[in-house]
Amino acid sequence: MSLFVILGLLVCIQAQGIIVTPVFVLKGRDLLLKFDADLPEEFDFVDWKFNKTVTLVRFEPSGEPIVHENSTGRLEFPEKNFSVTLKNLQEADSGLYAAEAFTFTGDKLVAEYKVTVQGESVNRVFASMSHELFTVTPPPSGPVTPVELIVDRVDSNSSESCDLHVTCRTHNSNISSTFRCVDRVCSQEGGERSEVTTSGASLQVYLLNSTIICNHSNQVHWTHDFNTTEHFCPEHPGPVLSALLLRTVVISVGLIIMVSAVITVHLVDFKKHQ
Ligand SMILES: *[C@@H]1O[C@H](CO)[C@@H](O)[C@H](O)[C@H]1NC(C)=O
Ligand SMILES: *[C@@H]1O[C@H](CO)[C@@H](O)[C@H](O)[C@H]1NC(C)=O
Ligand SMILES: *[C@@H]1O[C@H](CO)[C@@H](O)[C@H](O)[C@H]1NC(C)=O
Ligand SMILES: *[C@@H]1O[C@H](CO)[C@@H](O)[C@H](O)[C@H]1NC(C)=O
Ligand SMILES: *[C@@H]1O[C@H](CO)[C@@H](O)[C@H](O)[C@H]1NC(C)=O
Ligand SMILES: *[C@@H]1O[C@H](CO)[C@@H](O)[C@H](O)[C@H]1NC(C)=O
Ligand SMILES: *[C@@H]1O[C@H](CO)[C@@H](O)[C@H](O)[C@H]1NC(C)=O
Ligand SMILES: *[C@@H]1O[C@H](CO)[C@@H](O)[C@H](O)[C@H]1NC(C)=O
Repeated sequence: MSLFVILGLLVCIQAQGIIVTPVFVLKGRDLLLKFDADLPEEFDFVDWKFNKTVTLVRFEPSGEPIVHENSTGRLEFPEKNFSVTLKNLQEADSGLYAAEAFTFTGDKLVAEYKVTVQGESVNRVFASMSHELFTVTPPPSGPVTPVELIVDRVDSNSSESCDLHVTCRTHNSNISSTFRCVDRVCSQEGGERSEVTTSGASLQVYLLNSTIICNHSNQVHWTHDFNTTEHFCPEHPGPVLSALLLRTVVISVGLIIMVSAVITVHLVDFKKHQ
């Protein structure tokens, strides 16, 4: 009897003592949630749940998975060992993933992961913790596909201002941005734009001096395309320039008149002396 109490207590302590493993993963990647806990002697099934409420998959004691219909295509089972691979993770998949074993005496939490899916930058931390409970596919480092910088539209309704609408495109992704040039000084509306593609590389569009750069890069490789703002927003003679021109003309005419006057005076003087 007391042995059962002690065993029961141990089970409770174990269940409470489960470590929640934090995992950071990039959007579009797969994540293996490893299951290597000790299972109770006798159990009916093991469920993987999302945010404590949504059942993703139920494993029979044989290890045979029964996938909930809402999760078909999003899960894979590398081996029939209760581990689950989450496919093509999106931000909305962030949350708590827990495996629970159902036994005659009750439920037992056997594994728990707090998954955070990140979409913004390739240079973020990929995975934390030294646990061997999970694996995260390493960052991509193969060659990246070429990019193309397309100027979609140029809006210029005054001589000083010019708006360039561009798209930076690669085979599986694209981002758009607007550049405004006033008096030949250009800036990017909303600042530098970047996005992580489904293959985990980063697509960026930014301004460097007067060059618009479209850059597709991962940790090792990059490809780029570019064009200059001057190509589309040519320099117009602005009001500053016209004022300068007017002054030049006035000064020139004044000089000519003065020189002519001096010459005339000298000529008249010369004639008088003759
Ligand atoms: C289950 O299978 C996966 C994929 O082969 C493996 O990485 C993991 O270590 C296995 N888990 C156990 C408890 O054997
Ligand atoms: C499955 O999806 C349907 C419709 O998309 C939804 O109504 C239902 O609540 C979902 N079930 C679970 C368990 O998430
Ligand atoms: C799951 O829970 C996390 C917090 O633990 C929350 O941020 C997220 O929105 C939840 N996801 C869904 C789909 O309920
Ligand atoms: C063109 O004119 C409209 C309205 O006058 C203004 O809102 C817009 O910003 C102008 N565009 C440029 C490129 O100057
Ligand atoms: C840009 O990406 C969107 C989806 O994000 C797609 O609908 C659109 O066709 C793409 N445009 C180009 C020019 O590739
Ligand atoms: C940008 O302009 C600055 C100063 O005008 C110059 O020093 C720099 O080399 C330029 N950078 C590039 C990449 O052309
Ligand atoms: C493109 O991005 C990579 C990685 O950030 C960088 O090393 C490279 O210099 C960039 N290329 C250009 C043309 O800016
Ligand atoms: C800039 O774009 C124009 C028009 O699409 C093209 O003719 C030109 O070659 C491009 N310049 C560069 C440096 O790519």
